[in-house]
Amino acid sequence: MTKAGTCQEALLGKIEDKTAVVGIVGLGYVGLPLAIHFCQAGFKVIGFDLDEEKINMLRAGQSYIRHVPAEPIAVLTAGGQIQPTVDFSQLSKADCVLICVPTPLTEKLEPDLSYLISTTKTVQQYLRAGQLVVLESTTYPGTTDEMLLPMLTAGGLEAGRDFFLAFSPEREDPGNKQFGAGNTPKVVGGITPDCLETACALYNAVTTTVPVSSTRAAELTKLLENTYRSVNIALVNEIKILAHKMGIDLFEVIDAAATKPFGYTPFYPGPGLGGHCIPIDPFYLAWKAKEYDFSARFIHLAGEINVAMPYYVVEKTAGALNQHRKSINGSRILILGIAYKKDIDDDRESPGYAIMDMLMQKGAAVCYNDPWIPVLKPTRKYDFKLKSETLSPEFLAKLDAVIIVTDHSDYDIAQIVKHAKIVVDTRNATAGITAGKEKIVMA
Ligand SMILES: NC(=O)c1ccc[n+]([C@@H]2O[C@H](COP(=O)([O-])OP(=O)(O)OC[C@H]3O[C@@H](n4cnc5c(N)ncnc54)[C@H](O)[C@@H]3O)[C@@H](O)[C@H]2O)c1
Repeated sequence: MTKAGTCQEALLGKIEDKTAVVGIVGLGYVGLPLAIHFCQAGFKVIGFDLDEEKINMLRAGQSYIRHVPAEPIAVLTAGGQIQPTVDFSQLSKADCVLICVPTPLTEKLEPDLSYLISTTKTVQQYLRAGQLVVLESTTYPGTTDEMLLPMLTAGGLEAGRDFFLAFSPEREDPGNKQFGAGNTPKVVGGITPDCLETACALYNAVTTTVPVSSTRAAELTKLLENTYRSVNIALVNEIKILAHKMGIDLFEVIDAAATKPFGYTPFYPGPGLGGHCIPIDPFYLAWKAKEYDFSARFIHLAGEINVAMPYYVVEKTAGALNQHRKSINGSRILILGIAYKKDIDDDRESPGYAIMDMLMQKGAAVCYNDPWIPVLKPTRKYDFKLKSETLSPEFLAKLDAVIIVTDHSDYDIAQIVKHAKIVVDTRNATAGITAGKEKIVMA
């Protein structure tokens, strides 16, 4: 029950009649689609990012994410419903502040909360009574109540009375055409019951919500989802290696198993994990577990297996070249697809990079093609300085091997197999190809 005349009552009223201004901090793969979604639901959005290039592109009505179309951005920025800015003093104008900044790992696989800490400091600087602050970035249980809460209350405002603090994990699946922000339920945990109620009111205006008892429960929900994926992918990756030794097609087996109407969810093997979530998030949990004198063994084992997959791909490539009396050293090898999954332009933590690096270290001349990623920008670990090659029949014929790392829908796999000498397939992209089958090696 809200008390008449309180900050909460005022804020709930604004949310209900959609006059609440939503501030979104961090306009990346998560924040940008979220900003568009809130705008389309009728809210005015102020979008904050440190990256001026992104802000300038949004102001010009352009998108910097391939699967996020420019059209709604152009309409919404021209109409003033979304206001992109690098001016963080505008945070005081936002009634609800949603934080979507990166939460990567350090080199030692420990949580790197530097983005979150600096964002929280900025939010605290402009925090005023009557605001809702929600953390959406993926993180370990305890971040919201142990870290954000003391920082945000340092100026004297009380959470649950003066302002409202919650955690609601982002479940965006980039490029997923079936499920987006409008039909994916939001799990929400609040610091107090009023914080939970206020955050649920906001998200209920744009989707359905799943309230849980605490911010920690909401934080662990996200990590459970992604750890479940990491462990199951590791399981099929391990069974893939065994199936290869046994001469069994694991993809056929997975499809057969998936006909069971209960108790089985298909996961597919691949060249290793990529993206900003699955390779990273479980380590947030494993790190926090140490505080409880607990070793998260499944997480470590899954990490070990998944990290080993690029080595397996290189080993299979070496074996395939050997059949042709060739070595990796001196071979021309094409990486087909560098995005971490099909039909998106996100190459973060792509296993393709680890494969490229290993091949180069062994003396191969490595090139790549990815219609979604025309040039390779430097990453934290690599700087390849390569441009995507054009896949002409002549070019393919000059290569010693092609490794399918990402099976983008645009690829004409039959043509690639036709012109290449060896095709190492990590994705079952060559399923159904009969002509040139002898050139295909599964990895
Ligand atoms: N990408 C996904 O599929 C996905 C899905 C679910 C959850 N998440 C989580 O969401 C969070 C954001 O991920 P993302 O993929 O959108 O990252 P991203 O790198 O695409 O975007 C983050 C944005 O935040 C900006 N930024 C960094 N520091 C900032 C600061 N102090 N103030 C304002 N802006 C700042 C960056 O310039 C960037 O534009 C992470 O915690 C991630 O784990 C990501």
